[in-house]
Amino acid sequence: MIARVFLYEPVIHLPGLYPICGDYSMCGIFGIVMKEEQTLGPILIEAAKRLTYRGYDSFGAATIAGPTIDLRKDVGKVEEVAAKYHFAEMRGQRGIAQLRWATFGEPSQVNAQPHLDSDGDLVGAHNGNVVNNAELRELFLSEGLIVRSENDGETCVHAVERYLNRGYTFLDAIRLAYGDLEGDYAFVIGKTYDDKLYAFKKGSGMVVGIGDGFTCVSSDLPSILPLTRTIIRPQDGEIVTLWADRVEIRSVKDGRLIERQPELVTESMDAVQKGGYPHFMLKEIHEQSQAARELLHMLNSNREVKTLVEKMKTARILYFIGCGTSYHAALLGAVYFAQIAGRAVIPILAPQFIAQYVPTVNYEDVGLFVSQSGETKDVLNALEAAEGRGMTCYGLANVIGSTLTKETALCLPLCCGYEISVPATKTFTNQALTFLYLAYRLAGRDVDVLDLTPSLIDQTLEMVDSSVNALAEEINAWNDMYCLGYGLTYPVALEGALKLKEVTYAHCEGMLSTEFKHGPLSAVSKGYPILFVAGPNDIPLIISGLNEVKVRGAHTIVIAQEDARLRTNADKLIVLPTSDAYLTALLGILPLQLLAYRMSVLRGYDPDFPRNLSKTLTVD
Ligand code: M6R
Repeated sequence: MIARVFLYEPVIHLPGLYPICGDYSMCGIFGIVMKEEQTLGPILIEAAKRLTYRGYDSFGAATIAGPTIDLRKDVGKVEEVAAKYHFAEMRGQRGIAQLRWATFGEPSQVNAQPHLDSDGDLVGAHNGNVVNNAELRELFLSEGLIVRSENDGETCVHAVERYLNRGYTFLDAIRLAYGDLEGDYAFVIGKTYDDKLYAFKKGSGMVVGIGDGFTCVSSDLPSILPLTRTIIRPQDGEIVTLWADRVEIRSVKDGRLIERQPELVTESMDAVQKGGYPHFMLKEIHEQSQAARELLHMLNSNREVKTLVEKMKTARILYFIGCGTSYHAALLGAVYFAQIAGRAVIPILAPQFIAQYVPTVNYEDVGLFVSQSGETKDVLNALEAAEGRGMTCYGLANVIGSTLTKETALCLPLCCGYEISVPATKTFTNQALTFLYLAYRLAGRDVDVLDLTPSLIDQTLEMVDSSVNALAEEINAWNDMYCLGYGLTYPVALEGALKLKEVTYAHCEGMLSTEFKHGPLSAVSKGYPILFVAGPNDIPLIISGLNEVKVRGAHTIVIAQEDARLRTNADKLIVLPTSDAYLTALLGILPLQLLAYRMSVLRGYDPDFPRNLSKTLTVD
């Protein structure tokens, strides 16, 4: 018998162009299994609200009882969608809720999750990304399955459906589907005329909760902890079956039962949201390798990248426009474009772009507007002015759904997930990596070399940790310092200096190393800290610069790859892993982020929320 399905109309599409790519680590899922049918709406709404940090483009929920699946979903925030479709009244024996951070298919009702299978007796939702989504959708269509959306969550449902159709048990169907679904994701699925939910994950996080008379599963703890503190953390390659009174874990490989003792979570919710880190800034610094991995996934599969590269190639003048950290990434991007692709770019602060270039731009020019928030007023003013002159405007933003993503012809996502800490860290790295990737594409060079980036980031954080801690103690008494770089590392020095002043409240000036002798040299006194970021091709120049200040008493610290010449000349060398000059520049920011963080904490400040600052500057 075919399930009775409620799907609310109409299908609503949000304006604006959204790149087709994976739901990179964002989105949130929650599933719950009760003994008997009851009102589940309020539990699903509450759980979803606690996952809002993972996305809020659309919200959906499905409840299952006997032959019936009640599915309601739409574009919008949890509260809006829940109120509009009366989620609070939803009843069932099982429930699934999903929040979406749209990237795979635009935010629309049809792409919202959960999704049904072809005949509507299976319902499931995922978070994360299925990288072979396009290929699997083609395959399912050719096999006669009904594919309604572009979303990879639907692909997960059909991946199970096609094996169930062939007569496999639910567990075996999941085991086979697991082998077909490539990427990092967590998935929950349920069926009519059943009493269980099934969940599995690859790469992404997933937590199972065991309560009194119910079990639940979610992408993350915040939605589970108000219900129960007894949890199990399933691993990749495991399938969890949830009944109301027990859970069972089996191996994908051979279906064997896996014993896992539940844990008791005792930390506060605040500590849980920080993932065990004392501050969001430190958590976000350590999320950089995963963010880079997800960005590269997206760039490799996003069809819009080619369009962007072609447009940049043929532009009369190419501008990279941003503010603060995003401007520093733009500066580094311009050096990458020049050195790798031989393409001149004008990197410029957004308000200065209005004053200096808007009178000269026209439709033959291309501007790439860079912003974490996508809401910075200075950037939006520049965008408006540029559009007024007919310039072709593209974006690079982290917050999907922000004004920049809607107002530009094409906007690439930074795939960083939420950056809560006011100092930008992971978004800088992904902005710089995007520029590096685009420069390689523009030059027609193989981008596979960039696949090393995530592991180099992890390696760097591990290698520099203790030396950065020691350095923070050494120089913490100083309220004045410089951070110098040259060529590729000049923008990194500026960004490092911005991080240091933002969270330590000390004066730290970023500068081109060769400029130091043109005036600032007079500030040097005994022990005065001067940080250098050195690329492998600029060592002799950096050595000259550091000796100029060292002989006048400065305490010189160099961030660079291992080099005997630097070891002899500098007071301290913070060693980066071996890589090329392009990646060295990108890795060079990591010790500076860590240094700023450590000094802020040593000074007793809150690095996440520095005084006087705001994460998003929506004022002139
Ligand atoms: O959201 P945006 O990237 O447009 O923000 C621009 C700047 O306000 C921002 O980068 C700021 O400089 C950072 N908080 C620095 O860490």
